[in-house]
Formats: sequence, structure tokens, C-alpha cells
Amino acid sequence: MKLLYTKAEVQSWTKNIQTQGSTICLVPTMGFFHAGHIALMKRAGEIADTVLVSLFVNPSQFAPGEDLSTYPRDFAADCQKAESAGVEGLFCPDVQEMYPQQSQTSIKVESLSHQLCGKSRPTHFNGVATVVTKLFNICGADYAIFGEKDFQQLAVIKQMVADLNIPVQIHSLPIVRESDGLAMSSRNSYLTGEERKQALCLSKGLCLGRKLVASGILDSRIIIEKVADFCKDSAVSIDYIAIINKSTLDESPHVDGQALLAMAVKIGKTRLIDNGFLLTGDKDVSLNA
Ligand code: PAF
Repeated sequence: MKLLYTKAEVQSWTKNIQTQGSTICLVPTMGFFHAGHIALMKRAGEIADTVLVSLFVNPSQFAPGEDLSTYPRDFAADCQKAESAGVEGLFCPDVQEMYPQQSQTSIKVESLSHQLCGKSRPTHFNGVATVVTKLFNICGADYAIFGEKDFQQLAVIKQMVADLNIPVQIHSLPIVRESDGLAMSSRNSYLTGEERKQALCLSKGLCLGRKLVASGILDSRIIIEKVADFCKDSAVSIDYIAIINKSTLDESPHVDGQALLAMAVKIGKTRLIDNGFLLTGDKDVSLNA
């Protein structure tokens, strides 16, 4: 696996691959790889001939007081994991390389960025959209893949790519979960033993939502109320529980085939998100089935 530290290095690496007629799938990440990242890398290898991963903890998507300085990092382990997953290039720039001068330009995806996570993190998606645009421009990959746990991020990026005619095809991959249902996240490493148990209110809340729908309750207000009561029992602080249309992110008053139950909670200092479809057409409402 080739380590690429500068824009010039990654640009000549990708150009060389593409002039030979091979395609590249970019997997943008902030590192501290877990099974969810590995699944993205492996899927990227099915989509394109060559997998390029970017590893950059992007300061502009963290607000002051958020966890930028404590964000988990393990570069040596990440290199080993990426190489074993078949990654051929790892673009790992430092902050100076990505933001060499005071930027005057940022990308803002209007309405999609202000809902859900955007209410408590008003600058977050501008930071994501800007860095992802920079990564797309620097790497020039044919494809890029993102995880569906960050479903709002995925919607923002798809909209941005369509609006700005960015020549990259976006793919996504369903959430990868621990055996007890907790969605994989680098931030799970912040949780104490007790908080780890409390965090299960997310996946269990999603299962409860599915059970309610399977029992015939399709009124979003009732489902949200019951899931919120369930989460309050786990003593977590709820940021939001919403039933939305997966593409538009608009709230759905009634559950239909596109309705996604989306949740964000704070457990101690750790903010976690999760989501899942409510109408699965499946008798088994568990998340790991
Ligand atoms: O999902 C992430 O890890 C980040 O938000 C991303 C897409 C790499 C941008 O920094």
C-alpha cells in the first residue's frame, strides 16, 4: 500500500492509474478503522479496480468545544488494517497540506444541512461538504463510498455532487453493527462500560420502532413518543428522534417504505447517531438478522 502525504503525490498516483485505464474508488475517512470502515474498503474494491482511502481528521467539521483534540487516532494500526483490506493507496495529508492558507471559500448545502444533526451542529455539514469537495478535486476518483450510519452526510454529499456536477459516482453501504446491535463508530471508544450498555438504547429503540410498525402502528408521533420514553429509561440525553424520508430528510407523519427512524443521543460526553428503515417487510424486527 502506497502512503501518499501530499496533494501532488496523490494526484500523480491517481493519474498514473487512470491513464492505464483503471478506475479508482475513494473511501473518505477520519481513521481509527473499525469493521464498518473495512466493509467500505472491501466494497470499494468490488466497485473499482483500485481502492484509495483518505485519512484526515478534518478540523472544519468540528465546532469549538467538540472532540477534535480527543478524536481517536492510531495511524500504525490503520495502515495495517487498510493494507489487509486490499487498499492500494492511503492519502494521509496533514492540516497544513489540506488547508495551506486561510480559506475564503466553503460549500454550503442549504436545507439538508440544517435539519436533524444540523440543529445541534450548525457548522458541521459545511465543514464536511467543503473537505469532501476538496478530496474529490484532489483525488479525482471515479467513485466514492460512504457509510449509511451518517445518512444525513450521505444525503448532503449526494445533493452537492448533483448540484455542482462533480464527476464522481457516489455509493453507500448499510450500517455495520456489533453483535449486540450497537452501530460501529470510532466514537464508541469513548464509552465507559456503563455508557456502552446505555448506548444500546439506539439499536433497541430502532427495534422497538420496527415492532410498533409490525404491530400496525404507522403514526410517526406515537412511535417517536414510545421510543423517546424507552430512551429516557436508559438515562441518555436525546438530541433528536425523527421519522423522515431517507432522501429528502423531510419528516414523515406516517410510516411508509421510505421512512427511516433516525436518532441522536448524548451519553456522557459522547454523541452517537443511528438509523434504520421502519418497514422492512420482514417478520424479524431485529437489526442483525
Ligand atoms: O464520515 C467521515 O468520516 C467524515 O465526515 C468524512 C466524510 C471523511 C469527511 O471528513
